[in-house]
Amino acid sequence: MITVRTISQLRSSVDHSKVVGFVPTMGNLHAGHLDLISRAKQHSGCVVSSIFVNRLQFAPHEDFDSYPRTFIEDSKKLEAAGCDVLFAPREEDLYPVPQGFQVSPPEELADILEGEFRPGFFKGVCTVVLKLFNCVHPNRVYFGRKDYQQAMIIDHMISQMALPIEMVKVPTRREVDGLAMSSRNGYLSDPERAEAVQLYLTLCQMRESFKEGKSVALIEQEAMQHLQARGWKTDYLTIRSALDLTALDQSTAHNATHLPDKNNTVSFVALGAARIGKTRLIDNLEF
Ligand code: PAF
Repeated sequence: MITVRTISQLRSSVDHSKVVGFVPTMGNLHAGHLDLISRAKQHSGCVVSSIFVNRLQFAPHEDFDSYPRTFIEDSKKLEAAGCDVLFAPREEDLYPVPQGFQVSPPEELADILEGEFRPGFFKGVCTVVLKLFNCVHPNRVYFGRKDYQQAMIIDHMISQMALPIEMVKVPTRREVDGLAMSSRNGYLSDPERAEAVQLYLTLCQMRESFKEGKSVALIEQEAMQHLQARGWKTDYLTIRSALDLTALDQSTAHNATHLPDKNNTVSFVALGAARIGKTRLIDNLEF
């Protein structure tokens, strides 16, 4: 594996005679990230990954400074997983001047759910992701389904900006108890870690209640109450259209109880974001 810091080193290291698969990350890699590399490896002759903790997507009160930076371990994991080129720019390599030009995603996708609780987050994500795409020139890019809204917005960006890139969304990797793997799980104390799976279990319960025909409003209210009673601070727990994240009206929800079985397609997604102690976790379940 070649490790490069600058955009010009990167451009001379990526083998564009092969299919280039790209996995952007912020480091602190876990098995979920390595799944993305494995998928990229299956379909690409040259696998590129990036590690860059992107200041633009953190609000001033968020964890940019304390975000875990574990470069040596990450780099070993990437090499073992078969990554060919690691792009690990310093801030001055990727943002040599203040990044005045930024990508504003449409508000109906970016100002809801995560965007409501993290204003400007998706603008920061889209800006760095587009810039990374312009540096790497990948044919295929790999994103985890755990960040459901992020993957959806980037998919739309690729299509609306006519980028010649294929998006591959890779299923969420879970711990044995069901907790979605996340770099932020490392912030959890032992009791918080034991409790953390409740977010996933609550999403499972929401799916079951939905299939039983309970109203979405009631399902969402009960889910919030359940986690709050266990000491969580909830941002949102909701069931949305898996296609565009719009809220479901009652008639859709009622008719929908039969849809997934009929054609085996995913129509809905339960999404949640909540804080246990100081750690904010997100997860989702498609059905
Ligand atoms: O999902 C992440 O790790 C980040 O949001 C990404 C896509 C690498 C952009 O900084």
